Amino acid sequence: MVRKLSLLVVAFVCIAFIVSAQQSALPANAKRISPDLFGIFFEDINYAADGGLYGELIQNRSFEYTPNDNQSNNWNSLTSWRYITKGYGYGTISVETTLPVHANNPHYVVLNVEEEGQEGVGLTNSGFDGIVVRAGEKYDFSVFVRQFSDKPIPMQVKLKSKNGTVCGEAAFTTETKDWKKYTATITSTLSDDSVSLSIVATDKGKLALDVVSLFSQQTFKNRTNGLRADLAQSIADLKPKFIRFPGGCLVHGDGLGNMYRWKNTIGPIEQRVEQRNIWNYHQSAGLGYFEYFQFCEDIGAKPLPVVPAAVSCQNSGGTWRIGGTGQRGLPMNEIQEYIQEILDLIEYANGPITSTWGAKRAAAGHPKPFNLEYLGVGNEDKITPVFMERFKMIYDAVRAKHPEITLVGTVGPAPQGEDFEQGWKFANQLAVAVVDEHYYEKPEWFLDNLKRYDTYDRKASQVYLGEYASRGNKFFNALAEAAYMTSLERNGDVVKLASYAPLLGRKGHTQWNPNLIYFTGTQVCPTVNYYVQQLFSTNQGDVQFSNVISSSLSDDTKNAFAASCVKNTKTGDIILKLVNAGSTSTQARVNLSGLGSINRVATSTVLTGDPTTENTCDNPQNVVPKTSSFNASKSFTYDAPAYSLTIIRIKTTSGK
Ligand code: AHR
Repeated sequence: MVRKLSLLVVAFVCIAFIVSAQQSALPANAKRISPDLFGIFFEDINYAADGGLYGELIQNRSFEYTPNDNQSNNWNSLTSWRYITKGYGYGTISVETTLPVHANNPHYVVLNVEEEGQEGVGLTNSGFDGIVVRAGEKYDFSVFVRQFSDKPIPMQVKLKSKNGTVCGEAAFTTETKDWKKYTATITSTLSDDSVSLSIVATDKGKLALDVVSLFSQQTFKNRTNGLRADLAQSIADLKPKFIRFPGGCLVHGDGLGNMYRWKNTIGPIEQRVEQRNIWNYHQSAGLGYFEYFQFCEDIGAKPLPVVPAAVSCQNSGGTWRIGGTGQRGLPMNEIQEYIQEILDLIEYANGPITSTWGAKRAAAGHPKPFNLEYLGVGNEDKITPVFMERFKMIYDAVRAKHPEITLVGTVGPAPQGEDFEQGWKFANQLAVAVVDEHYYEKPEWFLDNLKRYDTYDRKASQVYLGEYASRGNKFFNALAEAAYMTSLERNGDVVKLASYAPLLGRKGHTQWNPNLIYFTGTQVCPTVNYYVQQLFSTNQGDVQFSNVISSSLSDDTKNAFAASCVKNTKTGDIILKLVNAGSTSTQARVNLSGLGSINRVATSTVLTGDPTTENTCDNPQNVVPKTSSFNASKSFTYDAPAYSLTIIRIKTTSGK
């Protein structure tokens, strides 16, 4: 026993020695920084999910749109659908709710075909700005049908170009008076950017239709209920360390009834609860928590879900709608149930398959855990007594049951001000691990605030800069963001996570600009800000060195130059980032003494161009990174071109 104990003590001393030796192995000008620093923020805003990343090609597939979703356009159950009775057919169509596929999905269409005519009677859907199909590509079609007539009814499904050309079709016959899912694979014979999908009965009879769905089989990683491959790939190419989802303001919602409740978004798609999107459209919840977790895993990013802090958005009904309710807290008699919902989320992500919620994850096809480490509670909430009381209850319960989870609190929508001050005070009182700061400012603000985090208390909560952008997609905006990102790296011991926001914007459907990636049905158009994010996230380090890079820029342009030096201890690479946001080139001096033996053959990647230009879908290549080989040495000078970001990546031969 005594022997065992002394062995344990020796082992403990050895481990402590190794850990402290590792720390002390760092030179005096080095510190460890967050290995998760640069990730992404995903919110269903600007059609980022439905009509965007989510691969569903049918709009309003479950007839659940309501006028409440988009009052000015009077959305309703038949939005994006058209009743078709070509070739002397006639009948009636109605939207009903008496016997739905599932109680969560109340609306469906009833077709009563009195005369089928030459082409049948039914419905056609125009997708999101038209359905994009490619010749030879296979599409998975499905629909729920309930036959009311006694006789089976033959049905035809067609993909049709605007000129009426049929480019793919399938047929089936109804089989039962109960709801039944019918499926078919349709191969498109043409490439067309704007087809419609029609589903018609080709004989007399009465039936109900719901959840009409069409997906390309070529979703990202070929997942069922998957993601649009090109958009998902552009996100994957950022190599983000984490993905924050599902928002943004979408999280706390427009009124208590509109909060994003994760349990509504899992399970078979016909059982998910659809609802109004706070950004004035509709959420199908087809891209739900399972799909978010799976996407994170597919691209090697850690999930960072954000749940409401049991309060609705303080702007509820105000900024967005007339007769606002403002911030409301869930009634106290609902709080325990709500807290359990959050604990269940952790079980859904990480619990064993023998647990209630782990079993649901396994049933969805993922028995292994999703390794949730981070959980955000609240988004930009007003720091009121109503908020604080609820946040603390959630915080205490999650900490007690899951001390392994890093909780992220919230400090309002601005880089200073009342909510910011109160939020920080409250977070520090509770010793919240990380708090989520948000700010959208002019590029000059970013250049003027490069020292913001230099003075943050290293013993207080760490920072997640969860939303930031410099209000523009011009190259100068991107440079200001790049300069700021060097300051995030320099302060990577206190800034743990950072994500630009918002991520996606569908052209013609944006509620917020600027965004990182614009897209249409056929195009994915990375902005120049995207390339800055990509250059930082693909060149992250976990140790940061100060006093390695200096520049001779004069005082009046002092904020125009910013730099950082990090090392990736896995690869042993030293990575230098130099930003010159000024109009003249500057000579930077680099001194790598003490950083190990340098391999002379290095690479430099430069992003430079006219500061007033931007990348658009029409001109996507205005400013793009260019990589070439670079001759490195222990000490060298580098001429940073006017308006440029340069990444110099150097291998060290002294290893990691
Ligand atoms: O990123 C767009 C919005 O900005 C987010 O929904 C919100 O959190 C912030 O105000």
